Amino acid sequence: MMRKLMVAGNWKLNGSQVMLRQWLADYAESAADREAVEVALCVPYVYVPVLKELAAADVTVGAQDLSAHEKGAHTGEVSAAMLKDVGAELVLVGHSERRQDHFESDALVREKCQQALSQNLTVVVCVGESRQQRETDKTFVVIKQQLDAFSDLITADNVGRFLVAYEPIWAIGTGLTASAEQAQEVHQFIRSQLAAKDVTMARQIRLLYGGSCKGSNAFELFSMPDVDGGLIGGASLTAEDFMAICREAK
Ligand code: G3H
Repeated sequence: MMRKLMVAGNWKLNGSQVMLRQWLADYAESAADREAVEVALCVPYVYVPVLKELAAADVTVGAQDLSAHEKGAHTGEVSAAMLKDVGAELVLVGHSERRQDHFESDALVREKCQQALSQNLTVVVCVGESRQQRETDKTFVVIKQQLDAFSDLITADNVGRFLVAYEPIWAIGTGLTASAEQAQEVHQFIRSQLAAKDVTMARQIRLLYGGSCKGSNAFELFSMPDVDGGLIGGASLTAEDFMAICREAK
């Protein structure tokens, strides 16, 4: 089964209007096979409208989080409907930085997925283990628990816009990348867990790798049979570095 690769940038708490305009101009001029890969960019909330206005049609407009609530007295929150209203098409859910820094639970991640799906947003749910969990052989236990919290929400109707990103926490922003074999081992595990519920859906769902992915290691990672692209942090901050990764998605 052919799954179209996705390379999604996540700017995290970085950027400005000037930077975004420059990024999009550089992206427009860069050479790459635009058919081979779906490109998404997840910017801070306030830059979503600018991205929507200026992005080429082939860039999926993304946000980095959303509220678990539909509306109401939740100061500082941004709802799925609001994201949709300003042009977002995709949203990250359960990034490890949200889970760690904001104590987001698996239950909350599930609620956020439900909100995103209610507005037909593409949802990229992040899972991954810490260094300590890996070193104590808990990787698969942790990933299974994270998956079990939301996997029943994936259906034949939404599987095209429901992605899972495996992000080993120990590889995020550290320069330490999971080896292609380590990534494949966990991606295969994720797909097998999903296949236990629905084989067809498991074959269709795209699984992204995130964690110090860059132009020099992307090809090896993306060559793995269960790696369907990447979620890119640091190397998404310039279009040059980002496109170096996209060019490896063949
Ligand atoms: O969202 C992106 C991931 O956390 C990976 O970040 O590429 O800076 O390691 P990184």
